[in-house]
Amino acid sequence: MARITAGVSTSHVPAIGASIDLGKTTEDYWQPLFAGYEYSKKWIQQNLPDVVVLVYNDHGTAFDMNMIPIFAIGCAAEFQPADEGWGPRPVPIVKGHQAMAAHIADNLIQDDFDITIVRKMDVDHGLTVPLSLMFGQPTQWPCLVIPLAVNVVLYPVPSGNRCYQLGKALRCAIESFDADLNVQVWGTGGMSHQLQGERVGLINQAFDRQFLDDLIADPETVAQIPLLRYINEAGSEGIEMVMWLVMRGALDDKVEVKHRFYHVPASNTAVGHLILENPGAL
Ligand code: DHB
Ligand code: FE
Repeated sequence: MARITAGVSTSHVPAIGASIDLGKTTEDYWQPLFAGYEYSKKWIQQNLPDVVVLVYNDHGTAFDMNMIPIFAIGCAAEFQPADEGWGPRPVPIVKGHQAMAAHIADNLIQDDFDITIVRKMDVDHGLTVPLSLMFGQPTQWPCLVIPLAVNVVLYPVPSGNRCYQLGKALRCAIESFDADLNVQVWGTGGMSHQLQGERVGLINQAFDRQFLDDLIADPETVAQIPLLRYINEAGSEGIEMVMWLVMRGALDDKVEVKHRFYHVPASNTAVGHLILENPGAL
């Protein structure tokens, strides 16, 4: 059976992708940020998954105001890097795992999560920047990726608890897939940031650090944080943090923390990053 060995969470700031693509990672501004991913790049080479279920949000690229699913799963054979206005990022095509994605969709829907099935979808920085942070600049991504998109851009958005429960259902779905596969679940987005309005530029380090502490040790409590509290304390775009709860829900109650990193700023955002291993699966 497939097993979930680890969870990875990371911010997905588009400027991080631009910094990698334009060869600026050693500049003074960026160097401290990329230093926080040095361990991660080594760890992932020693713990290469067969499949990553990558929980992220689309930013009005594949979906728009005309149609936006709350939860969507990419069931295609491959996904092109999206053109977000500056041409597609120069990164490899993302290859999916169609049989596993179909199995997850079936199981989630039978488990009362009415996830939308997507067969054609370009993937934006929300998905490609985390891949770049972990894998660098390979000619091909070294594993298959199943995109799982969560709506956090157009209200109403799902609660943290709904995302946490989705993670638990996702775990059941993955672990009932009949193939000997090493699967990681990644959650992207956050940390605190606000990109518009009077509070543009908001960053709340105290909230972020508490979120990291509690997500590791007490996810049930984090799952109860109401959406308005994210918006008030982490900013309107800080709501992306609910996607980390999908990752956390897919892991054991007690996890081993392999890596934790927090850095301010990257563009307009606080950057957070965790690598959590599932002791039972290794
Ligand atoms: C920024 C951060 C994001 O998470 C995002 O999706 C878009 C922009 C920013 O900091 O500029
Ligand atoms: Fe984002």
